[in-house]
Amino acid sequence: MEFSIKAQPPEKIRCGCLVVSVSEERRLSPAAKALDQASSQHLSRVLRQGDLAGKTGKTLLLHGVPGLLAERVLLVHTGKSQKISGSEYLSVIRSMVQALDAINVKDAHLCLAEIPVQGHDNEWKLEQLVLAAREAAYRITRIADQQDPACSLERASLPLPEKMKVVAAQTLVARAQAIANGIYLARDLGNLPPNICTPTYLAEQARHMGKTWKFRVEVLEQAQMEKLGMGALLAVSAGSRQPPKLIVMNYQGAAKTDKPVVFVGKGITFDTGGVSLKPAPDMDEMKFDMCGAASVFGALRAVAEMKLPINVVGIVPTCENMPDGNATRPGDIVRSMSGQTIEILNTDAEGRLILCDALTYAERFEPDALIDVATLTGACVIALGNEAAGLYANDEKLGARLQAAGDHMIDRVWPMPLWEEYQEGLRSNFADMANVAGRAGGSITAACFLARFTRKWRWAHLDIAGVAYKGGKDKGATGRPVKLFCHYLMQRSGH
Ligand code: BES
Ligand code: MN
Ligand code: ZN
Repeated sequence: MEFSIKAQPPEKIRCGCLVVSVSEERRLSPAAKALDQASSQHLSRVLRQGDLAGKTGKTLLLHGVPGLLAERVLLVHTGKSQKISGSEYLSVIRSMVQALDAINVKDAHLCLAEIPVQGHDNEWKLEQLVLAAREAAYRITRIADQQDPACSLERASLPLPEKMKVVAAQTLVARAQAIANGIYLARDLGNLPPNICTPTYLAEQARHMGKTWKFRVEVLEQAQMEKLGMGALLAVSAGSRQPPKLIVMNYQGAAKTDKPVVFVGKGITFDTGGVSLKPAPDMDEMKFDMCGAASVFGALRAVAEMKLPINVVGIVPTCENMPDGNATRPGDIVRSMSGQTIEILNTDAEGRLILCDALTYAERFEPDALIDVATLTGACVIALGNEAAGLYANDEKLGARLQAAGDHMIDRVWPMPLWEEYQEGLRSNFADMANVAGRAGGSITAACFLARFTRKWRWAHLDIAGVAYKGGKDKGATGRPVKLFCHYLMQRSGH
């Protein structure tokens, strides 16, 4: 979907459909008023008949409105209250795209950034309009059969918001497009079947991205991991026929001396649980166990497209967790790259094992902030459901910045505790630590495990098990938290 800025009044715009909003009691938005005047009160007459009553996001299509150059007008209902919330605004935009797609509109002029939204300015509304429209237009790339048709809406124009320069609006739109492209990449990777999206495939995609977007990519093979002493990562990979990879993406947008933000994303391309095998129902969803990795890919792509003046490193430890004669057994003890030994009591707690070695590897970049992201625990889904990701941080300021970025983009995270008392559960009689504690506080004890490998750095951990993908009839990857990461990095780089 292409976006452009058009400063002409809506009645002067030639396109397949003009989209304007109407709030409670048939109150017309400024653009709707302009159309009403140009059409000798056509909109008012239709609305008096009560055709657009009902819920926020409801739409009404008008044909043959006199006095306009556009073929149709789509009225969008913005609900009862004067100002709507940020997330209501996003859902209005998504419904609008669905309505346009249903009638096969190819080009439209969208006058929706003028909707009053609680706590947000014109910049936000313009950016989020692009992001929400692209979100609604996303289609899963099908592998096995014919591809579903793309969203019909190919070109959208947007009026220039009040008090904004054309160039500023265009820059904003271009940035939002870059973020949306990053989200598409993360969703595409997440949605691919696990027989295609293997560790080797991810490594190839990283190399390809590096060429396209001009950043350095290095892929460590099993032999190098052995040399580095990554016993924890290799223990997870041991049962798989797919070779493990450690992908390192290095984007340099600032001076070499600028310390980077380092992201580490869990890249389990399929999680059977290993010998601690998972139950069969919904096991297919464990193809999404690389969504943390996918969000790191997405963030790097977006940052490179935006050319942000900042250094960012993306590290992706990736392998499969499979049962096999060579697989790790419950009770096995391994030595991590950090030197700390781990008794693996449950082979299904594999995420923390690949992450701990990748977090140790991250030390060579001397991160200014180290952020890992993982579909780490089912317990986090029980704690926070599907709205917020779990946020853990050993640095208050970093935690607050990430939470604020999530709030701003409506890609929310919620703080969880990392108190030392929780460490007790990881005690082992046989090694420095066990890889699991009891069932209670499972997301917290997983984070506490990772904390033992990141004490030197400002570090945060996002448990995205509940937000990275949807199950049921809407099954698919969400691309979260690419939006949060992009905003955090834009803020840091002064944008
Ligand atoms: N990938 C899973 C976590 C997960 C569960 C993500 C459900 C999304 C939905 C992770 O590797 C795992 O299996 N965690 C275990 C940890 C337990 C053995 C301590 C879990 O959550 O059950
Ligand atoms: Mn697991
Ligand atoms: Zn897992």
